[in-house]
Amino acid sequence: MAAGLGQRMNSELPKVLHPLAGQPLLAYVLNAVEALKPDKAIVVVGHHAEQVADAFAARGLTFVLQRPQLGTGHAVMQAVPELPDEGVVLILNGDVPLVQSSTLALLVERARSDALILLNHELDDAGSYGRVIRDNHANIRKIVEFKDATADERAIREWYTGSMALPAARLKGWLGKLGTDNKQNEYYLTGLVELAVTEKVRVDAVMAATEWEVQGVNSRGEQAALERMIQRQRAASLMAAGVTLADPARIDIRGALTCQRDVTIDVNCVFEGDVELAANVRIGPHCVIRNANIREGAVIEAFSHIDGASVGAHARIGPYARLRPGAELGNDVHIGNFVEVKASSFGAGSKANHLAYIGDTTVGRQVNIGAGTITCNYDGANKHRTVIEDNVHIGSDVQLVAPVTVKAGATIAAGTTVWRDAEAGELTLNPKQQTVRAGWTRPVKKKADA
Ligand code: UD1
Ligand code: CA
Repeated sequence: MAAGLGQRMNSELPKVLHPLAGQPLLAYVLNAVEALKPDKAIVVVGHHAEQVADAFAARGLTFVLQRPQLGTGHAVMQAVPELPDEGVVLILNGDVPLVQSSTLALLVERARSDALILLNHELDDAGSYGRVIRDNHANIRKIVEFKDATADERAIREWYTGSMALPAARLKGWLGKLGTDNKQNEYYLTGLVELAVTEKVRVDAVMAATEWEVQGVNSRGEQAALERMIQRQRAASLMAAGVTLADPARIDIRGALTCQRDVTIDVNCVFEGDVELAANVRIGPHCVIRNANIREGAVIEAFSHIDGASVGAHARIGPYARLRPGAELGNDVHIGNFVEVKASSFGAGSKANHLAYIGDTTVGRQVNIGAGTITCNYDGANKHRTVIEDNVHIGSDVQLVAPVTVKAGATIAAGTTVWRDAEAGELTLNPKQQTVRAGWTRPVKKKADA
């Protein structure tokens, strides 16, 4: 179910698209469902339906529209035409992201013996969740929504977490009997429990082992709390795998971060997409690293931004370096402060230590690129490549107007604009004359009239 407005989020974005560790809430639920290999997965959409459906278009799901949204029971009614007559239906809230497929498998298994199986949990204070009412024999009788519950019912510790499994035939028979006689005038899916009890169909519960697995996201506060919880878990597993974290409370992993042994990560780094850090890599504070492969012993200094790049063994990057998509740096490369590298490869041992833009360039080995060097790769319409061969030395403040090649061993003097290929082993320069204006005096500020 993913049609709800998510009122308590106070957002234009549908709640199920709000992110948790970089992925929309609904993606987690769908992953858990897909792991069970169901015959069919149906998503009930309503609020911003197209946006939600578009976000998961490639997954082979069946979308059904719920408009208007009259409650969770009403949401499931919309899916009836898509449901089979036999087998078990598993119903999940789109806003309970961390429910585990192993738990869900248990629900489905137990529902096969003609039972309604709820996923429940116990808390001293179950907040605004629906409470599970049992009789003197501990048999489940009904679920009371928090808004409809009496003070005594609100004191009950057992609550319904939003996942249930039951035979499709039972579900189809009962949905039409749900009413809206409650505080919210909604069709509550939880009303199925009383219907099952009336028809003497067994109602049972699986108890969730941990709270995080069943925590719902209804507000920004709950979203942030769950985010911190996930990040703490990820930090703990990194440390268990031999990574040093300067502060496990100050790391954010919004994708898959894989680390080999003895990686060190300083505070406030953000990792997005797929990032691989090889053994002994050191990441300084305040780095943002997305879709990158950083090889053994490389050092990324503070405030570097790396996106779609690979960094060779023992390279030194930053502080304040920017590697953009297609930056492929060999072993022992140095990229220093305020150097931007895009769609360019650097051979082993090459350096650009200060203030440079290297775009669409092939840099050979043992090249030195001086401060202020810029590849002029864009003519206003098209991008062109620059080739800098092995052992080239480029002085400071050089412009390389692409397409152009600087051949092996060439030296480019400071301040040169290179627009034709530079010859191998030779010094290339634009002759400029330094002149003196003898007797020139610096202007002085006029005094205001007294
Ligand atoms: C629901 C349960 C409550 C349980 C809690 C657990 C009901 C009536 N209550 O309450 O017992 O403790 O989950 O998290 O089921 N949705 C629709 N269409 C609608 C209404 C909701 O698709 O018309 C979807 C929402 O997008 C959401 C899910 O159903 O993904 C749950 O809806 P929400 O309004 O958050 O229910 P809760 O009040 O949390
Ligand atoms: Ca909810």
